[in-house]
This record gives sequence, C-alpha cells and structure tokens, in this order.
Amino acid sequence: MINILVIHGPNLNLLGEREPEWYGKLTLSAINEMIVQKSNSLGCKVRIEQSNSEGEIVDLIQEAKKWAQGIIINPAAYTHTSIAIRDAIVAVNLPAIEVHLSNVYKREDFRQRSFIAAVCIGQISGFGPSGYIFALEALFDFLNKEREDGDK
Ligand code: DQA
Repeated sequence: MINILVIHGPNLNLLGEREPEWYGKLTLSAINEMIVQKSNSLGCKVRIEQSNSEGEIVDLIQEAKKWAQGIIINPAAYTHTSIAIRDAIVAVNLPAIEVHLSNVYKREDFRQRSFIAAVCIGQISGFGPSGYIFALEALFDFLNKEREDGDK
C-alpha cells in the first residue's frame, strides 16, 4: 500500500471564507473529502494535516520518513520564505509535489519565488482544489513507476 502525507500550510484552515476570488469557496474539509475519495479510488492511503506553524510542518515532514512514500504539500506563504521546509524535504529524500490553489505567477512579485519547488518533482498551480487531485494522480504514478524500476 502506498502511503502519502498531504500538508496544508498556514491560513488554509480558513478556506471557504478567505479571499474566495483566489482560493474559491470550498472549505478545507470539503477539499480533504475530495482528496480522500481520490485516494480510495486510486487504492492508496493519505494522511492529511494542516498547520499554521513552520516548525510543525518540518516535524511532519521528518516523521513522514517513517511511514510515507511521498508528500503533497501546499506550503502556502511558507513557499516564499521557508528554507527550513525546503531542507526538511531534501533531508527525508521523499518525492514531493507542491500545490497552489491560485496561479501564483499571476499574482504579486513576492509569490513568484518558491524555495520549495526546486526540491519537488513538480509544481501544480492555479487549478483550485483539483490541483490536489492532479498531484495525487501524478505522485501515485511516479511511485508506481519507481517501484516497477526497482523490480527490474
Ligand atoms: C497559496 C499561494 C500562496 O502565495 C499564499 O500565501 C497562500 C495560498 C495557494 O494555494 O494559492 O496562502 O499557496
């Protein structure tokens, strides 16, 4: 069984009421429901966490090494500031995908830089909650290919 950690960063607990013009009207629990449904249909397991704190996110990534094969992360504002989260992803050496609900490249200059993207397999930005679904498919596919290559 493939186990995946999904991390939502700061302020994403406010989805539904927070800047709906950028982030849409779905609440985080509705998005999480979609993620769980998708993981059930793929046949993998997800653990979903939200944290407003950088250190907690670093802890979650470190602990994931013990049980997960990959990470999907929307680091929210920490995308643009956190070398600690970047270093944690490198340290655990787990494949990760960065997700943003909004297209960060359409927005303020400070959102155009990600400290995280370069240590991920890839980044999905601008597709709203579907971005998490695409990320799950992409990570599942990546991990299965990795497994097949390992069997060769
Ligand atoms: C975000 C984009 C970030 O720039 C912002 O700080 C967020 C949400 C997104 O999902 O579009 O909090 O990660």
